[in-house]
Amino acid sequence: MKKTLTIALACIAVGTLLSYNASGEGGPKPEPLPKAKTIAELAARYDSSRCMECHEDAHDEWSESLHAKSILGTPRTAPTIITAIEKGLKLFPYSGVKKDSDITVESLMMCMKCHLPQLDEATDDVAREIVATIRGWQKAYKDGDHDKVDKLQATIASLNIGCMVCHNKMAIIHKYADGYPQPDTVYGSQVGDHEDEEINKMAVAPALGESIFCGQCHGQGPSFELDHPSQCATAYGSYLFAYVAHGGNESCQECHMHKSELGHNMQSYRDETMAEMAVDVTVHGRSIFWRKDKADGVLPIGIIDVEIYNKTGHGIPDG
Ligand code: HEC
Ligand code: HEC
Ligand code: HEC
Ligand code: HEC
Ligand code: HEC
Repeated sequence: MKKTLTIALACIAVGTLLSYNASGEGGPKPEPLPKAKTIAELAARYDSSRCMECHEDAHDEWSESLHAKSILGTPRTAPTIITAIEKGLKLFPYSGVKKDSDITVESLMMCMKCHLPQLDEATDDVAREIVATIRGWQKAYKDGDHDKVDKLQATIASLNIGCMVCHNKMAIIHKYADGYPQPDTVYGSQVGDHEDEEINKMAVAPALGESIFCGQCHGQGPSFELDHPSQCATAYGSYLFAYVAHGGNESCQECHMHKSELGHNMQSYRDETMAEMAVDVTVHGRSIFWRKDKADGVLPIGIIDVEIYNKTGHGIPDG
């Protein structure tokens, strides 16, 4: 009990220090921008291609990652959103969704909270446009209309976890202490002027380099704050309770961005480097002859001992 209390006090102390030491340049909560009325408008607001000119490496790496197509996925995510609507929302008696035209931003948030957090800056029409586009894409695929598949797929992928989602919208976690992200600022590790025409300031995001930053979307379990909690990714919960609690001390960024040398191309086992970093497998085998009984006589037997050691910072696979 005493130990728990000491740890708890230490945690509070660290939390307080972090907040006061932080030189985050957040500010008062800004007036929200007018809601985006179309997919095109929302995509333009978070367009990462304008950052490419000066941050070519970060952009090239990011564009290989699933963050760059976070509602299309591998492309398993877009169809699963439709399944969640058909087998979930439309069947639940109190969801208010009986047909596609009933879909709202709020009803899609059970997925978009993490897959497209900026959807909260769009009207319900955009939520419906997303669903219609995914359905159109699925139909074009069935019809074998490849041009249309490519076109609609690009529209779906134009909504993603782009530069400004991480370096602005999600950049500051403790907003009461560190302030709210300001629309003219990119958040990283430096303070000063930023060369971009519109986003002309740079400021510090106090926790960008820490696991909690990724934890905002990588899940601890059910999203209890929603009227209808959903559960998808749980890597952050697993990281905290099964890795850090057992002495693990590396951050998500250390493994996924630095050690892997993948930078902004954060990857799972689909990437060879990550697959190699994932597990140690040791196999010991031995063969013996076993005298069973009179009827069966002497039998050859193989004993194979396989040890798999998970070297990652969380359970695998996740999701
Ligand atoms: C005209 C060139 C230019 C454009 C366009 C531009 N940047 Fe920058 N950005 C810079 C320069 C130069 C720096 C300072 C880099 C340095 O000192 O390492 C910088 C710094 C940053 C940093 C801080 C890096 C750190 O180490 O803390 C972030 C984050 C960033 N930019 C994101 C973006 C994003 C997101 C966009 C698109 C919305 C963008 N930039 C567009 C030139 C540009
Ligand atoms: C705004 C939410 C958000 C943030 C912040 C975020 N991620 Fe993700 N990440 C996602 C989503 C959503 C996906 C899955 C997209 C899909 O395929 O549908 C994903 C995918 C990934 C994948 C690939 C998983 C796979 O199965 O291949 C890795 C690895 C990853 N993220 C690591 C990170 C790390 C490390 C950080 C912090 C530096 C981070 N993410 C920050 C939402 C986020
Ligand atoms: C707590 C945040 C969160 C919520 C809420 C969430 N997801 Fe995810 N989802 C992720 C992250 C992060 C990943 C990728 C990493 C992983 O699998 O651990 C992912 C992965 C996936 C994948 C596999 C990705 C691929 O490209 O193959 C699918 C499919 C998926 N999510 C669908 C959904 C659907 C549908 C919903 C809503 C019913 C939903 N998710 C809700 C965060 C979330
Ligand atoms: C999923 C979240 C995420 C996305 C999306 C993202 N970044 Fe970053 N970025 C980070 C994190 C985390 C760091 C700090 C890594 C560390 O700890 O060193 C970072 C660091 C940077 C830096 C500092 C220098 C460096 O390369 O480490 C620049 C510049 C930058 N990002 C630009 C961009 C640009 C441009 C884009 C879009 C093409 C982008 N980022 C998209 C999370 C993200
Ligand atoms: C000690 C290094 C290490 C740390 C720390 C770490 N990861 Fe990983 N992670 C890996 C490796 C290696 C893989 C590849 C194995 C795999 O995909 O199954 C991986 C895979 C993943 C995947 C894909 C899981 C899947 O279903 O295959 C996601 C998502 C992910 N990490 C997110 C995170 C997040 C978020 C954090 C921080 C909370 C984090 N990781 C911390 C090494 C690490």
